[in-house]
Amino acid sequence: MSSTQQKALYLDSPCGEFVIKTKEIQKPEPGEVLVKIVATALNPADWKVPKFNPPFIEYYPFLLGADSAGVIEELGEGVTGFAKGDRVIHEADWHDRFASFQQYTVVSAEHLAKLPDNLSFEQAASIPLGLATAAIGLYADCDRPEGVKKLRPPPWEAGGEGVYKGKAVLVLGGTSSVGKNAIQLLKLSGFSKIIATASLRNTDMLKSLGATDVIDRNADLVSEAKNILSGDSLDLIYDAVGTKEVQSQALEILQPGGQLIAAALIHVDTTAHVDKHFITLFAGFRLPQNWALGKSLHSKLYDLLASGAIKPNAIEVLPNGLASVVAGLKRIENNEVNGRKLIIRPGETP
Ligand SMILES: NC(=O)c1ccc[n+]([C@@H]2O[C@H](COP(=O)([O-])OP(=O)(O)OC[C@H]3O[C@@H](n4cnc5c(N)ncnc54)[C@H](OP(=O)(O)O)[C@@H]3O)[C@@H](O)[C@H]2O)c1
Repeated sequence: MSSTQQKALYLDSPCGEFVIKTKEIQKPEPGEVLVKIVATALNPADWKVPKFNPPFIEYYPFLLGADSAGVIEELGEGVTGFAKGDRVIHEADWHDRFASFQQYTVVSAEHLAKLPDNLSFEQAASIPLGLATAAIGLYADCDRPEGVKKLRPPPWEAGGEGVYKGKAVLVLGGTSSVGKNAIQLLKLSGFSKIIATASLRNTDMLKSLGATDVIDRNADLVSEAKNILSGDSLDLIYDAVGTKEVQSQALEILQPGGQLIAAALIHVDTTAHVDKHFITLFAGFRLPQNWALGKSLHSKLYDLLASGAIKPNAIEVLPNGLASVVAGLKRIENNEVNGRKLIIRPGETP
């Protein structure tokens, strides 16, 4: 492999195999930065794409991987505020130039943040996609139906901190990466009751992030939540689980006019709930409707991470870089990875 080349893990065909190949290292265009990826994370979508072949993937071979923590290798024309060698963090995107299942990736400087010293690259790689999914669901335009309000302003912007004091919110799947980030953002937004569903062994961890109450994921959600709400109205649910059973129960306690933000798919018949709003999202900051939010978030991300307002996931680092992705994804698909992110270092690929 020459010095202008790198290794990348391609999905070779629809519902096909992952294959490690050699490819040219990308050149950053004006406004972009080339990052040498030190660590990236495995996410549920990385096994769902090969299994379900979603229609928005229009060409193969295809590159996945959505988290990146690394070191700046090269600055594109016009980039200021960053230097070669800076430790950085950013969301990666499924695309030959922008994905993170490769050794180098490119990102817009507007969607890049320096990494504070309190986080290792491996810890940092556990954050971007979960944080983006929570932030976009709560604060971006997404595909919100007419008249349905996003939360404004986000808590990292002027006037955003604490504005939802007195309000209640339910996070389904609090232990998930998305759920933990949602809890931390909702805490910054000031919600007074942040109720999460989870396995009870995770109660202390979720309370340390900002959950006020944790309901056993196997308990009767409706009666437990009503008990905790004790008459308060519930008009916001963030769903990081995405099953019909959980969504059906949650809708019983959502007020008319309330919104259910779904990180995963909606499985209920929405026409049976015309008085409630369903928000779906695609957590890419490169999408036009999410770009400005991504720029705003990254301008404050260093501070959020350095202060501990946003904390990393627990992590498990796998050996052999990209060569461990397939086995790691199988463990995620089999529900064998709970409460932590699997991390690889692409530079260790044999
Ligand atoms: N729309 C998008 O662009 C986008 C982006 C990222 C992720 N997603 C989706 O969002 C979902 C979450 O992703 P993730 O990466 O955050 O997942 P994850 O970290 O892999 O979540 C694992 C956790 O989910 C919890 N869980 C599973 N079933 C549960 C249930 N019935 N009730 C409560 N908790 C449950 C478990 O918590 P306990 O250990 O406490 O049991 C487990 O630890 C996935 O469906 C993913 O595909 C969508």
